[in-house]
Amino acid sequence: MDALIPAPPRVLCPAAALAEGTARGFPATAPGFAGLFLVRKNGRVFGYVNACPHLGVSLEWTQDRFLSADGTTIVCAMHAAVFRIADGACLAGPCAEAALTPVAVTEAAGMLCVPADAGRHPATG
Ligand code: FES
Repeated sequence: MDALIPAPPRVLCPAAALAEGTARGFPATAPGFAGLFLVRKNGRVFGYVNACPHLGVSLEWTQDRFLSADGTTIVCAMHAAVFRIADGACLAGPCAEAALTPVAVTEAAGMLCVPADAGRHPATG
């Protein structure tokens, strides 16, 4: 059952902490949740669940390393699937035709926020 009063958004980090052309990961908040990551590109912030549509694993090579060397795409460390930053669509790799799960990102009082249930695994309701 949906709550009558929506949970407040989850605050991820100060907007200034996500520089242009970089990405940043955030851990799962509880069992049943996946981690999230943000990318700032051309002044916009894009958010995704940190789960590759191929096998569901985290995408980063090392902490906060989600992007290709030239910073133009998101790359999965496991099998090198390539994703478009703007919409998470898979451009190449074993999950072609699939996409990352987007997360709505808002900025409030200088902080980047996502819905409280962002990253919740669908099976856990
Ligand atoms: S797990 Fe990401 S490309 Fe295979």
